[in-house]
Amino acid sequence: MTPEEQQEMLASLPKGEALKLLYDWTFWARPKQRLPSGNWFGWLRLAGRGEGKTRTGAEVIRGWVGDKHAPPIRIALVAETAADARDVLVQGESGIMAISPPWNMPQYEPSNRRVVWPNGSTATTFSGEEPDQLRGPQFHKAWVDELAKYHKPELTWDNLELGLRLGTRPQVVISTTPRPIPIIKKMLSDPMIVVTRGSSYENLSNLAPSFIRRVISKYEGTRLGRQELYAEVLTDTPGALWTYDRIEQYRVTESGCPEWKRVVIGIDPAVSANEDSDETGIIVAARGMDDHAYVLRDLSGVMTPDAWARRAVDAYKRWQADRIVAERNQGGLMVERTVRTIEPNVSYKGVWASQGKVVRAEPVAALYEQGKVHHVDTLPRLEDQMVAMTPDGYMGGGSPDRTDALVWALTELMLDSRPAVLADAASTPLVSPYTI
Ligand SMILES: Nc1ncnc2c1ncn2[C@@H]1O[C@H](COP(=O)(O)OP(=O)(O)OP(=O)(O)O)[C@@H](O)[C@H]1O
Ligand SMILES: [Mg+2]
Repeated sequence: MTPEEQQEMLASLPKGEALKLLYDWTFWARPKQRLPSGNWFGWLRLAGRGEGKTRTGAEVIRGWVGDKHAPPIRIALVAETAADARDVLVQGESGIMAISPPWNMPQYEPSNRRVVWPNGSTATTFSGEEPDQLRGPQFHKAWVDELAKYHKPELTWDNLELGLRLGTRPQVVISTTPRPIPIIKKMLSDPMIVVTRGSSYENLSNLAPSFIRRVISKYEGTRLGRQELYAEVLTDTPGALWTYDRIEQYRVTESGCPEWKRVVIGIDPAVSANEDSDETGIIVAARGMDDHAYVLRDLSGVMTPDAWARRAVDAYKRWQADRIVAERNQGGLMVERTVRTIEPNVSYKGVWASQGKVVRAEPVAALYEQGKVHHVDTLPRLEDQMVAMTPDGYMGGGSPDRTDALVWALTELMLDSRPAVLADAASTPLVSPYTI
């Protein structure tokens, strides 16, 4: 129908009918957004940014809950962070509250992390940062949004799976942009998991122009775009400084870490903050008693100078760090002043990038090759940037600010911090720089 014909048809409907149509997901859903038939345990929707992953997850939950007369069920809603569970899954524009019809509207009780429907069904929110919260409770159904971006994807999934045991047909919908992590690869070969793939472009007509400009255009034509827009599970880039396989090989969990000798916060600051600005990279890394490096947290994001300085100082205190190391190419003295406005007494070192990104990153990449750097749990956005660094530059689109912050932190911890005499000793085979 032409837009005019649509208008005319909608206007001719009685009011109640138009409202019913508005909330009729079977009418709006594209075929790939409809619940698959068959006897499956998991429905994995691997799809690009903006494809309608969150909307589909919320609609699946609405369908499972049923109407006012349906028997009540218990549901787990799992997101990357507690804030995402609240702001995206429950209260977001594609979340449960927004898609629920007025005649079957649930109540949200934020203090109980719970959504309650008129029929008594309840959904409790959880996050990939606190998988232990999923130990104990039991559910009939679950929805896991953006699993591939969790800090602790494996543990979250394992705990959830154990709790999915109520009723005759426990089921889970997993909606995520993929990343080549073990849990996703495992799901792809699990016979009880049905997989649906979709690209961002399939939902283009429902996306805001600002989203298309900010997200879609940024990734189009880049290697990372194959993952972010087309939902391809990427393999490693030939010649890249880092590979997913290598990062995976040396990954550890929090409980597998030694005591720290030193902790450093690395910052690659952005000087302006609007929605098109670069991110400020903030990485927390430690040198363990075993003289290996441990990358603990990626706190990067698009922030105002005040906000990133606050975040970095909070991290400095929380991890009892020894130093903040910040690149001062953009912003010069302003960077130090911004940090000191928040906390005058931090130990601060400004560093100047006189060489290109790749040259700076190479010695750090060599430490990874030697198995001396471990990521503590998963650092998805940082890792996606790292594997797109090649000798010819960054192939990811935008600027690799997280990787830059990582390089500063690890250079300080593992390369620069050696006193000159020890650095010399490192080149003689008889004396290890770390055992003197
Ligand atoms: N079949 C559909 N009909 C109408 N609108 C839709 C449909 N599918 C998705 N949408 C709308 O498209 C927009 C984007 O959807 P959604 O937020 O679910 O995407 P997403 O894949 O989760 O995005 P992101 O990658 O940003 O998390 C929302 O406004 C959603 O309501
Ligand atoms: Mg989403």
